[in-house]
Amino acid sequence: MTDIERTEANEAQIAVHWKEEQYFEPAQEFIDQALMRDPTMRERFGEKNFPDCFREYADILTWFKPYETVLDASNPPFWKWFTGGKLNASYNCVDRHLDEHRNKGALIFVSEPEDEVPYVMTYQELYHRVNEMAALLQGECGLKAGDRVTLHLPMTLDLPITMLACARLGVIHSQVFGGFSGSACADRIKDSGSHHLITIDAYWRSGKLIDHKANADIAVKVAEELGQKVDKVLIWQRYPGKYSSPTPRVDGRDVFINDLLKQYRGRRVAPVPMDAEAPLFLMYSSGTTGKPKGCQHRTGGYLAYVAATSKYVQDIHPTDTYWCMADIGWITGHSYIVYGPLAIAATSVIYEGTPTYPDMNRPWRIAEQLGVNIFHTSPTAIRALRRLGPDAPIHGPQHFKHMTTVGEPIEPKAWRWYYEQVGKSKAVICDTWWQTENGGFLCSTLPALDKMKPGSAGPALPGIYPVIFDDEGHEIPKGSGRAGNMCIRNPWPGIIQTIWGDDQRFVDTYYRRFCKNPNSRDWRDWPYVSGDGAMDAPDGYFRILGRIDDVINVSGHRLGTKEIDSACLTVPEVSEAAVVPVHDEIKGTVPEVYVSVPSGTKDPDAVARRVVKACEDIIGKIARPEKVYVVPDMPKTRSGKIMRRVLASISNRRDVGDVTSLANPEIVETIRIEVQGK
Ligand code: WT7
Repeated sequence: MTDIERTEANEAQIAVHWKEEQYFEPAQEFIDQALMRDPTMRERFGEKNFPDCFREYADILTWFKPYETVLDASNPPFWKWFTGGKLNASYNCVDRHLDEHRNKGALIFVSEPEDEVPYVMTYQELYHRVNEMAALLQGECGLKAGDRVTLHLPMTLDLPITMLACARLGVIHSQVFGGFSGSACADRIKDSGSHHLITIDAYWRSGKLIDHKANADIAVKVAEELGQKVDKVLIWQRYPGKYSSPTPRVDGRDVFINDLLKQYRGRRVAPVPMDAEAPLFLMYSSGTTGKPKGCQHRTGGYLAYVAATSKYVQDIHPTDTYWCMADIGWITGHSYIVYGPLAIAATSVIYEGTPTYPDMNRPWRIAEQLGVNIFHTSPTAIRALRRLGPDAPIHGPQHFKHMTTVGEPIEPKAWRWYYEQVGKSKAVICDTWWQTENGGFLCSTLPALDKMKPGSAGPALPGIYPVIFDDEGHEIPKGSGRAGNMCIRNPWPGIIQTIWGDDQRFVDTYYRRFCKNPNSRDWRDWPYVSGDGAMDAPDGYFRILGRIDDVINVSGHRLGTKEIDSACLTVPEVSEAAVVPVHDEIKGTVPEVYVSVPSGTKDPDAVARRVVKACEDIIGKIARPEKVYVVPDMPKTRSGKIMRRVLASISNRRDVGDVTSLANPEIVETIRIEVQGK
């Protein structure tokens, strides 16, 4: 591979250069115990049985009232799943397991400080805590079904308890990733119309006790400026009974949850029977343009889909110890730390801190200590852990039976290390492809039934019928070796209902592009557009090539270019801003920022520092640009559009191509020299 090929801008091109890989067979030991061993499953979920095949998923749940219709597709693309049915997510994840699993661990909390012993919360205790918290939300805040509440919580047990308490009441929770800034939280408070913010005083991250309460004050202030008044801030305490934040409490607004809970000890709240179509939660995600979208997930379809995929793809038995090393603040954590695993009575691990703290072996120590046998993480984490020494045997668990990866394409080299060193060539690997909007996995091997192929997410899961279109909307035939737009032809239970408060944006973003006939009432005319590029190999395995829209995937987390650009533009000296994705050995992709400033601007370094700070303050540390280049002008088309592609080529040390048709071609070389040197 030449240097130029090596440094293509994004995962897409990098992936294209991967060659076909050999298959790996699942170990017999795994197959013998797997929950899904029926080779006819894909056939049963074939198109001739659609949508009835999904009854099997709904049957995993306990319904208060049985549903009447599996899929109501009469108003595309606003699909309705399991209509007429009533259920409660909290009941399904907690109450119904008590008879059989009362004193089994539901959640195991691991603090970042290693001297704090892991805390095993049983289903019985989770039941108590969720009930008491639900009673508090009712009693203190008057919250009821359909209300929205914003959570800005890190990885402690308080987060799933709060989520399940909301679900018990039918209150729609909107958890904002704890690492996001107060200002990013405010946007989501405003958009969801929340009057309550639930937060925590402090939490541990990379050896520091972070003052998180300070973010709440910013969030409330900014939300108010945006026109959304927050009546109450409910504060968990990282160490109950003790306030661990230096930021003062605001009288009349801030309350300590642990204090209030004393009045609710032993209280029970009956789980509210919710319509299958009632929204369960919102999860904000970045898109191509504009503000983050409130992805609105339904109760019945979502829960059925995540429960079934936890069972059949992750193979979680109640006797397993399962650890998904993601953050609950992202969809992965909602679906595969909380709702999916708990719906099937798993024991699910929650780790508070940074995986690499205090050293690279921490995850393996945790796994060993807790006896984790199913492990779920991202390629970014795998690459970082591999750094320890690609060939150094890890001092780790000998007993993973199953490992999953999610969030970005994983290159075969990292896959093989994961398989050989971490999984000791025994554990199966599922490379799971999906998105915030999808609720759960869409492509992956079924671990006991399909062979693994490094670098490929595998075939579509049962009941999912993908199609790849070229830009003109023609189907690209399987095995042609050509990449195109990855789409799903049919609705499935995990798909979002809509974008909160913006049906039009929902249709435009996901269904407009390849819709054959906007007046059609037939789901077959309404393929879902994922925004990813992909290739379908002759064996039906999909190789996901990454985003083809203006979205940057940093460590498996989605950031919109528009969001980052806008943050940079808040710095007064900055006239124009453009963020580009740059290939990174560990994180897959990192953002680099170009800003133009008026000529004569003094101290460009100070401008660059302010740009970095603006990204951190407005979005969060995750959006921190790796580099900021202060340039005299941007390469532009004659119509004045900034040529992000040209900047990306410069950052990635790749040929910029023909730029002669630009309005200002000479600037390209000036910028190139500034970035790469002569
Ligand atoms: C984007 C979705 C839902 C998982 C966490 C990220 C990329 C996700 C894979 C995979 C290649 C992947 C896609 C997708 N992606 N999984 N196994 N292989 N790429 O959720 O923030 O909604 O991002 O992550 O580009 O569109 P998200």
